[in-house]
Amino acid sequence: MTDLLLLPGDGIGPEVIGEVRKVAAALTPDLVIEERAFGGCSYDQFGSPLTDETLAAAKASKAVLMGAVGGPKWSGVARDKRPEAGLLGLRAGMNVFANLRPALCFAPLADASSLKRELVEGLDLMIVRELVGGVYFGSPRFIEALPEGGKRAVDTQVYTTAEIERVARVAFELARGRRNKVTSCEKSNVMDSGLLWREVVTDLHKREFADVELEHMLADNAAMQLVRAPKQFDVIVTDNLFGDILSDEASQATGGLGLLPSAALGVPGAPGLYEPIHGSAPDIAGKGIANPLAAILSFEMALRWSLGRGELADRLFAAVTRALEGGARTPDIGGQLTTAQMGDAVIAAL
Ligand code: NAD
Ligand code: IPM
Ligand code: MN
Repeated sequence: MTDLLLLPGDGIGPEVIGEVRKVAAALTPDLVIEERAFGGCSYDQFGSPLTDETLAAAKASKAVLMGAVGGPKWSGVARDKRPEAGLLGLRAGMNVFANLRPALCFAPLADASSLKRELVEGLDLMIVRELVGGVYFGSPRFIEALPEGGKRAVDTQVYTTAEIERVARVAFELARGRRNKVTSCEKSNVMDSGLLWREVVTDLHKREFADVELEHMLADNAAMQLVRAPKQFDVIVTDNLFGDILSDEASQATGGLGLLPSAALGVPGAPGLYEPIHGSAPDIAGKGIANPLAAILSFEMALRWSLGRGELADRLFAAVTRALEGGARTPDIGGQLTTAQMGDAVIAAL
């Protein structure tokens, strides 16, 4: 059985996954690793961003690690064949409904954030983003021409009780192992899906998690609070779209997008999908300067959450910390190392 399926993808994806391959060779030479085309490069080769074979291989692996997909090259492709559609298909096909996006400020990087040091020093928050529902998947969705001229575009935000409850449960359980606080974010003041979200989270809390502190916060206020005082948060649970936005925002409190990993988990025992939260970064692709730490830390999460190697994950995390303490920095966090040199620094620290 394949332990780890690598899907390097497009843009800087192959560059950062290349460093994961090096780290894995040093840390876990016994891992059975497979690799497949995914995203834009799969579309170019096979006419589809996610082939049936790749989805089947993902479901048959213990963990899947994705680099990034998309880019201007595919901007004219029909929506359902776009690289991003492949990613949504992979998430839905693997049914990884709970996306854990930690935002952690490494001590040596407290000055790399665009926020003041005292606001981010010691920051350790976890965003739990619902990943297979909401407006990303709701129907109907279409663009239609109007008889009077112009067009009309429709997306549908939709959530069921069961979908909200299962992701909220993950958030409450995580909080118990952390600082025991969950902040649930929605727009219950204007959206029915937000009203249901708040109701379901409140009910679940009362029934099963009364020992955990629960706070409700409107998502716009949460966006503001994240840059005003990010350390007030422990676990944030929110829907697919708000989670996408709030996690990019939270990355700035840590030094940047190039640092943030994620783990998408489904039912216990099912394979997890691991991905940096950043994209294919077309502006720096091919230059060899992308920060590989988000990808390396996504591998760390895979070791911990899907591959049963928590101790090796601890070692890898410590090595990343030591490399940063030693001054290793790619340009995005204020240094001059190349992608490969950053990977080497982590391996040296191992
Ligand atoms: P992006 O995350 O690719 O880039 C935003 C900015 O952050 C850019 O300036 C980029 O250079 C920088 N950046 C991102 N990752 C970095 C890294 N590892 N090291 C250094 N700098 C880094 O977002 P975008 O430009 O809005 O999107 C580009 C493409 O990526 C789009 O096609 C988008 O759909 C796709 N995308 C894919 C994923 C994914 O595959 N999971 C995530 C986000 C965006
Ligand atoms: C992310 C990305 C994706 C998302 C895109 C590329 C589909 O922005 O993983 O954060 O919106 O979920
Ligand atoms: Mn995003």
